[in-house]
This record gives sequence, C-alpha cells and structure tokens, in this order.
Amino acid sequence: MSLPSSSHLTRSFLLSLLFTSIAASASAFSDDEEVQIHHFQQYLRIRTAHPDPDYSAAASFLLSLAHSIGLQTLTLEFSPNKPLLLLTWPGSEPSLPSILLNSHIDSVPAEPDKWVHPPFSATRDPHTGRIYARGAQDDKCLAIQYLEAIRSLKRSGFSPLRSVHISLVPDEEIGGADGAEKFARSEEFRKLNVGLVLDEGQASPTDEFRIFYADRSPWRLFVKATGSPGHGSRMYDGTAIEKLMDCAEAIARFRDSQFDMVKAGISPASEVISINPVYMKAGTPSPSGFVMNVQPSEAEMGFDLRLPPTVDPEQLKERINNEWVPSFKNMSYKLLQKGPIKDCNGKFLITLTNESNPWWPVFEKAVISSGKKLAKPEILSSTTDARFMREMGIPTFGFSPMANTPILLHDHNEGWLRPAQSWASKEEFSGEGGMSIESVRTAIARSCAKVGSWIGKFSTVAVYGYNTCEPE
Ligand SMILES: *[C@@H]1O[C@H](CO)[C@@H](O)[C@H](O)[C@H]1NC(C)=O
Ligand SMILES: *[C@@H]1O[C@H](CO)[C@@H](O)[C@H](O)[C@H]1NC(C)=O
Ligand SMILES: [Zn+2]
Repeated sequence: MSLPSSSHLTRSFLLSLLFTSIAASASAFSDDEEVQIHHFQQYLRIRTAHPDPDYSAAASFLLSLAHSIGLQTLTLEFSPNKPLLLLTWPGSEPSLPSILLNSHIDSVPAEPDKWVHPPFSATRDPHTGRIYARGAQDDKCLAIQYLEAIRSLKRSGFSPLRSVHISLVPDEEIGGADGAEKFARSEEFRKLNVGLVLDEGQASPTDEFRIFYADRSPWRLFVKATGSPGHGSRMYDGTAIEKLMDCAEAIARFRDSQFDMVKAGISPASEVISINPVYMKAGTPSPSGFVMNVQPSEAEMGFDLRLPPTVDPEQLKERINNEWVPSFKNMSYKLLQKGPIKDCNGKFLITLTNESNPWWPVFEKAVISSGKKLAKPEILSSTTDARFMREMGIPTFGFSPMANTPILLHDHNEGWLRPAQSWASKEEFSGEGGMSIESVRTAIARSCAKVGSWIGKFSTVAVYGYNTCEPE
C-alpha cells in the first residue's frame, strides 16, 4: 500500500501520530490491518439498505467472519427472513452477568447520484482516504470493530471471565419491532443474563469520544380541526384551517422556547423537547390542484415530537389539551407514543453515568487509561435499539468509537472522513481521524484495538448483580 501522492498533509498527519512508529514509514498498514479494512469494505458492499435489505447475504458474511474467529453462533428469527445473529465468546465464569455488544445490520437508503462514489462500492478514495459507503458510520463499523477486536484479543491469548455476546440485529432503522424489540423480550435474551450493553452512539467531531446514556422518546402528534365550511370570499370565525393555524402558532411559540435554550447554550439539543411540523393536509382537491374558493371543513397537521427521558409526559399532555388542541374549539388529536417512558422497574430509561452504576467507572477508566478523552455523557437526539435494552432494566451505553470524525450518518457520502481541503488547517489532524488512507487504520483498525482493550476490561471486572427485569 503506498501513500497518496498529494501529501504534505498526509505526512504532517502521520508525523502527528504518536502511537506508532510504523505509521511514519511509507507502508502504513500491517497485513492484519489490511484484512480488517477489507472486512469492513466487504460488509459495506452488502446492500442492507431499506426498503429491501439483503439480510441473508449479510448473515452469511457475518457468520463466516464469526466462524473464522471461533465464536459460537446462533441464528434467531423473530420474524420470517429477518435473521438476528447471536455470537458468543464464552467466559470462564459464564454464570456472571455477560456483556452484550449490539449493532444493527440494516441502514437507511442512499441517493446514489448525490454521492461522489457509489454508496455500496465502499470505495477507498486514494485522495481522501475515506471509505465511502452507506452504513459506514451507522453502524457497520461497530460490527467490524467488535469482531476484529475479539479476534485480536483471542490471538493475544486473552480469555474473558464473563461471556461476551454480539447481537447483529435487523430493522433498527425502521423501528426495531422485528429485531431488537422482540429480542430484548425473548427467552433467549433472558438466558444471556446480560449485565451491560454497548450499542451505537455517534461520531464525534472533536477528540473526545461521545457516550450516550439515554435516547429521547419519539412521539407523533396528529391534530385535526373541524369547522364551518364556507365561501372563500367570506370572513368569518371558526374555520378548520384558522383553528389549525392557531394550534400551529401555539406550538411554534413552545418550539421557540425550547430552541432558545439550545441557542443560548443553556441546554444541549437532546435535552429539550423538540417539536417540528411534518405534514399538513387540508383543502378540497380539484383536477388542477385545489378548489380555491371554498374554505374546507376539515384540516389536519402532523408533528414529530421528541421527549428527553427527564420530562414529565403528563405535563406535556396537559399542555396539548389546554393550549395546543383545546377540545372546546372542536379540535381533536391523536398521540402516538412510541414505547414506554419508564423501564420494567419503574425507573426512567436512563443509564446512570456515576458511581451508582458499577459499570460506569469501568467504562470511564477503560477509555481514559487508553489515552483517550471522554465527552460529558449525553442524551441521544434520536432513538436506537438501546431503548429496548434499557426497558429491560439493563444499563446500556450508546458508544460508537469514532473521534475526530464528522457526523455523517444518514448523510450523502457517509464515510469516515471529510474531504481533504476542509481539513487543511484543522487541529483535528492530530487526532484519530484525519484524511489520509492511514486514518482509515486509525479509524477502523486502531479502534478495533481500543475496543478490544475495553471489552477485555469489561469482561474481567467484577461487577455483580444489577437489577434487571424478567421479560413479559
Ligand atoms: C363544535 O361542533 C358541534 C357539533 O358539530 C357544533 O354544534 C358546535 O357549534 C361546534 N363548536 C365550535 C366552537 O365550533
Ligand atoms: C447518580 O445519579 C443519580 C441520578 O442523577 C442519583 O440519584 C444518584 O444519587 C447518583 N449517585 C451517586 C453515587 O452520585
Ligand atoms: Zn444506527
């Protein structure tokens, strides 16, 4: 493997790498690292994007990788043609609560014409060093990190005290109902006696790894107004659209109050209630569009609402009833509340990041002792499969170890790294990211090593008993 020719930047990047001396030489990758990168590319080339994810190809690939490492494998199917792979590295004391490393196989669709390289080519761009592929960050990197980390650990002779499991699950991007949700409630899951789950987080544009201890709950609010229909020329009170506009204005004021706190730096975006209009449905259709001289008797609007786990949902419901959708105005609403607010022990769906959670100090020390920085724990703005594990009362961290990496999940040109130009004067260069091909090693292979040392620490530390729940 030779260096990209462009490369003053590459060289300064290399020189800034503290951790290895071979990095400064021209042959940047060891054979093992090349293999890791190749596995990553192979996985990315399997089209597991919705709406038609090729789960069977992904499953055979992942199973063969697992077999090559010597892991036990089990294929579960909670819904036809949606395999869920459970891979196990048994510990020497399998009665201890185990570690579960979770990653979803599917990804969101891509619009190929908006990409510089085809989204399923996993092209390793010689100029930027970036591997372009849908799913690179979200979250095929995780499966490869888990597997390759375990491969290295096994090779080094390490043997875990507690069992380590990997679950590779379908359908996260469409809600997880046939994947992690059924899995977390299954007898198979209960038998794993899981003590800690690591699931996906997000890339970090700085040198601090990000860690997520809760997801926001997604709600859907559908508001419907009815009113007197009438001629478009008449001004009168109580039309459906007028009422709906009042509602939208009230919601907009609330939205501002939340967003202002974010803009003022008082709250991170994930810790406020977000609400955004996502559709409007009104008007009387005509062959050429809409009838323009009739004020319709019905109008409807939909909102995406996200609640941090610290918010009291009853208070929000009161606000909807009293301010947004007062029933005396002949308006009605439907609230689709996805998933519970509390876990099976009646606690908020939050994984503690302090000494009360015996896994936390282990996690924190594992990252810091490997010379890395950890950002202040965050709530994830969106939702992941982690919530199903938290619902079972199991501590679950969202953690995708990608530092100095722009957040590109669901974006065009999803990959590890941003184009060269925009990196030129950035101190990010010195970190684990950067733009050269070498950075692929830092991002993939090196993170495999890190993940390996963390898994090692988790699996040997003595953490006993955590209050988990029985499945229904
Ligand atoms: C609400 O609807 C009822 C029944 O259609 C009607 O009698 C009433 O006048 C309406 N009230 C308002 C405020 O529009
Ligand atoms: C950890 O955080 C929780 C929630 O904020 C709190 O109730 C608990 O007392 C904290 N424990 C310690 C040891 O600080
Ligand atoms: Zn994801």
